[in-house]
Amino acid sequence: IADRFDTGSLAGRRVVITAGPTREPLDPVRYISNHSSGKMGFALAEAAMNAGAEVTLISGPVNLATPAHVKRIDITSALDMLDAAQSTLEHCDIFIACAAVADYRPTSVAEHKIKKGNEEIMELHLVKNPDIVATVASAPQRPFTVGFAAETQDVISYARGKLQRKKLDMIIANDVSQAGIGFNSDENAVTVVTHDTETAIAQTGKRQLANQLIEQIAHQYKTTQ
Ligand code: CTP
Ligand code: CA
Repeated sequence: IADRFDTGSLAGRRVVITAGPTREPLDPVRYISNHSSGKMGFALAEAAMNAGAEVTLISGPVNLATPAHVKRIDITSALDMLDAAQSTLEHCDIFIACAAVADYRPTSVAEHKIKKGNEEIMELHLVKNPDIVATVASAPQRPFTVGFAAETQDVISYARGKLQRKKLDMIIANDVSQAGIGFNSDENAVTVVTHDTETAIAQTGKRQLANQLIEQIAHQYKTTQ
């Protein structure tokens, strides 16, 4: 193992990855969430570990085994994920945001189970969650920061917009309009977008895709050192 770690493309680098969904509580028994499986983030954690990195995986609730030698921090809500991410920043060279963070959370969490009323329509009040990857990318000692963008239309231009707005170094654009790839599936096809490059990766299993992505991230990271 020591040999592989010494020679891997991320040997000695500290990589933090967010993965899975967040859950935004409404009351003690209910939450708002999404269908993210966490598979891509976990595959990236394993690939980064195999490339010699010291890996911390900040994960929402998922049904996946922790890859060997990976440090896992379990969180539930977006606010928890932000806290966990910030706690890793002092020792982070590369930050990869793969989590499907809920964009909004209920403005308040009821102390007791909300009772069904007589009204037919119920309104929920939501407040925007902090943008975790954008917060990381604007930190004073920012790591090399990578985001994901799942889009159903104008995939590259929306991804580029996020790259710039969130001040990322790289974004992995994912067309989720095609059936059988991307969100919650076992295969994926993506385009790796930086400020001056665009590299397509053909549809493949998430494990193989993770290895290719880690190689691209390692390569691009080195050009910034
Ligand atoms: N992200 C994050 N914190 C949030 C929302 C998103 O860190 N509160 C990260 C995701 O992990 C991903 C990237 O930002 O790496 C893009 O997420 P996405 O949902 O595509 O972008 P949004 O800015 O939320 O825009 P929208 O959902 O409207 O497309
Ligand atoms: Ca979003």
